[in-house]
Amino acid sequence: MSKGTTARLKSGMKAGLLASSLLLLGSTALQAAEGGVADPANWPAARSPAALTDRATERAINRLIKRMTLEQKVGQVIQGDISSVTPADLERYPLGSILAGGNSGPYGDERADAAKWLKLVTEYRAASRKVGAGVPILFGVDAVHGHSNLPGATIFPHNVGLGATHDPELIHRIGKATAAEVAGSGIEWTFAPTLATPQDLRWGRAYEGYSSDPAVIAAYSKAMVEGLQGPLRLGKPLPAAKVAASAKHFLADGGTEAGKDQGDAKLPEAELVRLHAQGYPPAIDAGALTVMASFSSWNGVKNHGNRSLLTDVLKGRMGFTGLIVGDWNGHGQIPGCTTTDCAAAINAGLDLYMAPDSWKGLFDNTVREVRDGTIPMARLDDAVRRVLRVKYKLGLMGAKPVGRGDPAAVGAQAHLDIAREAVAKSLVLLKNEGSVLPIRPGAKVLVTGPGADSMAMQAGGWTITWQGTDTSAADFPKGRTIGRAIVEAVSAAGGKAEIASDVPAKKPDVAVVVFGEQPYAEFQGDVPNLMFHPREGELELMKRLKAQGVPVVAVFLSGRPMFVGPELNLADAFVAAWQPGSQGQGVADVLVAGKDGKPVRDFTGTLSFDWPQDARSPMVEPLWRVGHGLSYAKPAKVGAVNEDPRVELGSALSETTFIRAGKVIDPWRLGLDSTVTMRAVDVAAQEDARQFSWSGKGDFALDGPPVDMQRHLNGGFALRLDWRPDARGSGPVTVSFAGVRLDVSQSLGAVGKPATLRIPLTCFAAHGAKLQAVGSPLRMGADKGFVVSLRNAGIEGVGETYACPPLAN
Ligand code: BGC
Ligand code: BGC
Repeated sequence: MSKGTTARLKSGMKAGLLASSLLLLGSTALQAAEGGVADPANWPAARSPAALTDRATERAINRLIKRMTLEQKVGQVIQGDISSVTPADLERYPLGSILAGGNSGPYGDERADAAKWLKLVTEYRAASRKVGAGVPILFGVDAVHGHSNLPGATIFPHNVGLGATHDPELIHRIGKATAAEVAGSGIEWTFAPTLATPQDLRWGRAYEGYSSDPAVIAAYSKAMVEGLQGPLRLGKPLPAAKVAASAKHFLADGGTEAGKDQGDAKLPEAELVRLHAQGYPPAIDAGALTVMASFSSWNGVKNHGNRSLLTDVLKGRMGFTGLIVGDWNGHGQIPGCTTTDCAAAINAGLDLYMAPDSWKGLFDNTVREVRDGTIPMARLDDAVRRVLRVKYKLGLMGAKPVGRGDPAAVGAQAHLDIAREAVAKSLVLLKNEGSVLPIRPGAKVLVTGPGADSMAMQAGGWTITWQGTDTSAADFPKGRTIGRAIVEAVSAAGGKAEIASDVPAKKPDVAVVVFGEQPYAEFQGDVPNLMFHPREGELELMKRLKAQGVPVVAVFLSGRPMFVGPELNLADAFVAAWQPGSQGQGVADVLVAGKDGKPVRDFTGTLSFDWPQDARSPMVEPLWRVGHGLSYAKPAKVGAVNEDPRVELGSALSETTFIRAGKVIDPWRLGLDSTVTMRAVDVAAQEDARQFSWSGKGDFALDGPPVDMQRHLNGGFALRLDWRPDARGSGPVTVSFAGVRLDVSQSLGAVGKPATLRIPLTCFAAHGAKLQAVGSPLRMGADKGFVVSLRNAGIEGVGETYACPPLAN
């Protein structure tokens, strides 16, 4: 405890504060109470360009605000999602904005084309013009690596790959192309660029960050904002092929402890500024119309409720005059708030709540809270003003709005060419022993590995769907997988290549093995360490190729540098290809030589993150540092590298798995009432389940240190039990999660039959379960005679909806 803390504590006691409870809070709570308050004087200054608005516009806004009713004003500061707002809803709830989340497609169609999106946007817009004050809605989407929600769009490499190009001019062109495609589908706002500076690669969103180096973020943020929006011109709206950018997620989303998504950045203010704030001043100076608040906290204080950061720093010191949008129900995570009731967020400086499915309740509660003075009218007016300013700048207002909507721009050849160039420039050559690369003209080539022909793996998360796991080649009519692109390039150079899952009878001259991570988004990509886990058979395949004397070129697809010691040693050449997106030709352009013996391009990419030499994170001593990368022009010999992960692979604490194959997983502990006994049994394998028997009314329980599981509520998770009821008991059977107990007697199924029960976490939350601190993720209650065998318990993401069992009494 610092001297200052002790002094403050003492004076607190003298002042008659509840000294004992204060002491009980311990050091983290004290730190939280002190932390999270920024002093604007310590921050870099910036200023939104004067051209973001103009006198005539501000006067028009004044007039509009004067004639708006309270309900119309509140509507302006709330954004709903297309999956839960209909154009007809806008009549009663004149919302200011609509978004299409990662899993939301027009009319429930994830595969909708640009024309269908345009129709949807036009319908909302027309409906909004007809109601209330007639203010058109603002429509936002996550075009985070191209217009990535749309089949047929140009999918650029994820930001981790763009960082490796070290080429702001290219980023500018990508911004321009992305804007043209977003606007082409009638949409005027993208939730990009991500300006995170990821420091711990365990973070599932590391690939959304360009680099761990703040200087790269600063250079790219300006380039991307200018590419998306173009320069702001005084008195003129953005042209039809331009869209609003969102600098996100403010602040330090990439600085959370242990790389936990939506976690806490425990940092002194100077570090916060130095590492995590550098992208914002250039974005604001470049005219970014919007900034998105981060789910995460700074020193225990949620950013959505941090007035010093949102108001004093961002709007004050950084002179930001656009709007601050929240993240997906992020306001609901502020202590004391729920997703439908949160004056604290707007009072802290948030201007537009992202309330995908919570907009209705939020609307009613916000109206009430302005009426009773909890939210000052001046603050509401300021938020409305900022929303309207952005709408004016986008040319949505007035009799002659800027007409966006040119479906032909989506997947235009010029954009595909930029993507191909970006892919080529993002590749980082880490090893090339014996000059195995480039593949020589006339060569016989095997392309193999799980990523050889997988658009899903090369595109990654935030592609068509939120997680990007369930896409197929049909979603990328204008794309090319890496394998197919290599086959084409090899045959163009007079050779022969095939994609196959194993070594063919006729020995190839060289094998390209494309492998790596499966797609993921947000917290679903959080990992306990930097170990890359090859799929079954993958290493063996490389070993077989080696044994037969076939040189191996490894192409590694991943959202982050990972520990790949064994793969590096097996491969003759190793290329980090990140998540390159739809244009696999960019890989072939560098790896395959043409008839003249030269590839289209040499490697120019260099690491924008350190590469680990073992699975530990934070890295102790990297294998290669930021800036490293070989090329044909500058080769270098790489000897054998370390193959020891240096972490206990099995022992990572799990917050989503409670029991696996009958074993209780750390940090959870099992406790039994005296009426319950337990033994190991076999359900599908030897001792793969625990059998619990009740001799009277009682519970078995899993307990552990409180874990924040709120984010799982957002992502649509369910409590999952794999069980087998072995005998019926005398009373009801109940399952409780985070203190809320539901009666599952009707969901038991037949005695002796293994079954799976899924209960959406929303069922527990609906009855007040506090997901901020879940210390008891599972309790099962029953009475005399009940016997159940439990194999697995945990929480998992579910795509479908499951009914809620009734509350137990
Ligand atoms: C993500 C944001 C995204 C938003 C809308 C959130 O969960 O954190 O990056 O813009 O959803 O899809
Ligand atoms: C949405 C995403 C959002 C996420 C929040 C998903 O269902 O589609 O856009 O970011 O939930 O956790």
